[in-house]
Amino acid sequence: MDARLSEVKALVQQALDQAMAGLPAGDLRDAMAYAVTGGKRIRAFLVMESARLHGISDQAALPVAAAVEALHAYSLVHDDLPAMDDDDLRRGQPTVHVKWDEATAILAGDALQSLAFELLSADQIGDPAARIRLIAAFAQAVGAQGMVWGQALDIAAEAAAEPLDLGAITELQDGKTGALIRFAATAGPLIANADSGPLDQYAGALGLAFQIADDILDVTGNEDVTGKRVRKDDAAGKATFVSLLGLDQARARARSLVQQAEGGLSPYGENAGNLRELARFVIERDT
Ligand code: IPE
Ligand code: IPE
Ligand code: MG
Ligand code: MG
Ligand code: MG
Repeated sequence: MDARLSEVKALVQQALDQAMAGLPAGDLRDAMAYAVTGGKRIRAFLVMESARLHGISDQAALPVAAAVEALHAYSLVHDDLPAMDDDDLRRGQPTVHVKWDEATAILAGDALQSLAFELLSADQIGDPAARIRLIAAFAQAVGAQGMVWGQALDIAAEAAAEPLDLGAITELQDGKTGALIRFAATAGPLIANADSGPLDQYAGALGLAFQIADDILDVTGNEDVTGKRVRKDDAAGKATFVSLLGLDQARARARSLVQQAEGGLSPYGENAGNLRELARFVIERDT
């Protein structure tokens, strides 16, 4: 997995740099470039591996991977804003609104979202029907029934009188983190017009495990390693699996989700080794 992840990181950075090279120079472009730099690139990796499993070339899948990372970067820039989580550190660097200002952070996020949709229209991905399938699925995943919906639930939960129950937290996390991860992991079958059921099962469980790990890291993590502030969720009154179940049970749940995720990979056999390793990495990571 490590060699493939390094390869994906380099390819995606190149694609993002290239996509932004022609934009007007200035703070907006600089802030966009800054926001897309770094990160684990897990979502890009999911796109590239799900594509490979469906016989889609790296060249065809790359704009999709870049689109997912651009969209993810926008979501982080907005997530860190004072009106949202009010964070000053991201990927080991000052957040965009701290380095520039709030207006630049809002606009850079907006433009990264537009850039993501532009990338999904790229010729090299495949025939127009495949691209329209991707664009429609992406729009649903990241909008008011997907990621943005989850973010809205996350913010609303801060002020809720009663703590959320397991079902409500699952819905929240499935939206804010799960939807984009699910899109990324099913991009291959979407392009190939193949059955996305198995990868959808994988990604649903993986997305939840991923967010549980993120919530655990907020409690147990080290800022120098995570590159973002820790011990903020409890103070902000966030609803997480950790707030509801405690650390041990949250860890157990993440482990069982990883097993569930691996179950989804069985139709792919040996070929899905990288995705299997990723699922384990997602809950063992310290960043
Ligand atoms: C952080 O995502 C935000 C969540 C959805 C929990 P990542 O942990 O993938 O962040 P980067 O891209 O590696 O910085
Ligand atoms: C962020 O979740 C989810 C999105 C940006 C869509 P968090 O608020 O938990 O992410 P971190 O902990 O700030 O990275
Ligand atoms: Mg948040
Ligand atoms: Mg946050
Ligand atoms: Mg978090």
